[in-house]
Amino acid sequence: MIDFNKFTKYSKPGPRYTSYPTALEFNESFDAKAFDSELENQDSSRALSLYFHLPFCRSACYFCGCNVVYTSKEDKKDRYIDYLEKELELLTAKLDTKRLVTQLHFGGGTPTFFDKKQLDRVIKLIRKHFKNFSKDAEISCEIDPRYFTEEHMEVLKAGGFNRISFGVQDFDPKVQEAVHRIQPFDVTKGAIELAREAGIKSVNVDLIYGLPYQTFETFKKTLDLALKLEADRFAVFNYAHVPWMKKTMRKIDETTLPHPSVKLEIFKYTIDFFESHGYKMVGMDHFAKPEDELFRAIEKAELHRNFQGYTTKGGADLIGVGLTSIGEGKDYYVQNFKDMKDYEAAIDRGVLPVHRGIKLTEDDVLRNFVVMELMSNFSLNITRVEKEFDINFKKYFKDGLDQLQEYADADLITIDDKEIVANSTGAMLIRNIAMAFDAYMKKDDDNKKRFSKTI
Ligand SMILES: C[S@@+](CC[C@H](N)C(=O)[O-])C[C@H]1O[C@@H](n2cnc3c(N)ncnc32)[C@H](O)[C@@H]1O
Ligand code: SF4
Repeated sequence: MIDFNKFTKYSKPGPRYTSYPTALEFNESFDAKAFDSELENQDSSRALSLYFHLPFCRSACYFCGCNVVYTSKEDKKDRYIDYLEKELELLTAKLDTKRLVTQLHFGGGTPTFFDKKQLDRVIKLIRKHFKNFSKDAEISCEIDPRYFTEEHMEVLKAGGFNRISFGVQDFDPKVQEAVHRIQPFDVTKGAIELAREAGIKSVNVDLIYGLPYQTFETFKKTLDLALKLEADRFAVFNYAHVPWMKKTMRKIDETTLPHPSVKLEIFKYTIDFFESHGYKMVGMDHFAKPEDELFRAIEKAELHRNFQGYTTKGGADLIGVGLTSIGEGKDYYVQNFKDMKDYEAAIDRGVLPVHRGIKLTEDDVLRNFVVMELMSNFSLNITRVEKEFDINFKKYFKDGLDQLQEYADADLITIDDKEIVANSTGAMLIRNIAMAFDAYMKKDDDNKKRFSKTI
């Protein structure tokens, strides 16, 4: 038995590293002009991964950390698509649309909160501009099972979608009530059946641990039910509680949140549970069947991390379209406006709706590699880093290695001249371990508190 109380001291604010530098470092000096110049110098041999943010939802799930617009007004949604259309015109005037598209993702919000006509219109707009999809392109959509009909499925299928990710979070009625998301098991089951009947081969289910009233016992039951869904992948996210950034989270009574030691116990059980049922852990929060390409990517050391989580398609430029969406190139990040008025105003002026971003320095690029390797593979090949970046690792990262000694002493990682490797318990603290290589962690004390807790 592991004494998880021992590790609760590591529960502190820290990034989830969907980017390095984190979004807190993005700034407005990287503006539409800066992004234009990245597009002018684009490397057309690189593939494209397209992300469309479809932000609407009917009602708030209190735990939700996504960028959401709550509305039921159809004209608001139609207007949003009008702006997507204009943004695409502006973008494709500069972006080489002959580049190979290897991924297309609809995220939200709840993309299926659009009706079938609206969804179809978005897909047709994209297909009008981008014709060079790779044969094995991943085309995926996030779906709230409570808003998913046969008609949606038909539109997605006709649009070439081959992956669907369903939000569940937890099946316990008390937890569901506390987070304002009532979603009976049969609703989820029916939604997945709909996708399977339409021939969708890859189904993902999202769960969250760390929600109000969750206990070890309740989450065990949630996992038993989840397994019955026979998903190809499960994402089991650590609840990121940031009420200072998300107003709806203030509706959650913090005294009902599970203690970090309980969260670790739940997560350890989750890992053992899925592994005993034929799934393999991928990255810090995913579980996939061994034949899933996500898992195969680990074996080939080709797993990558970006804003959507883990992906097998590295080396592509991520292009974000829509409110608040984030793009990523070889050495820059760019983010659209979060505020609808600003977003629309920029497009009305005929410029891309870029709010902020960051151009990476050489040091950022190096640390990005180190952080993402650790986050994806729970290990780091020091020899490879030294070769690729022409540095002496021990000298360059002396501070970071000193910080990590604590974790080595606690038998969570091993460090030698050639590699850093986290063991299975250390893997649960991988955010803490990656933080040792984050140059910005030292800089900005106040901002650090804005991150969610690592446990
Ligand atoms: C855009 S939602 C998924 C699609 C759809 N809106 C739904 O909820 O079913 C993306 C996922 O992010 C996860 N998520 C949202 N807020 C979170 C938070 N504060 N901490 C951890 N995971 C979160 C949830 O698992 C959710 O399913
Ligand atoms: S979790 Fe999904 S359905 Fe709930 S508010 Fe967030 S985006 Fe909307």
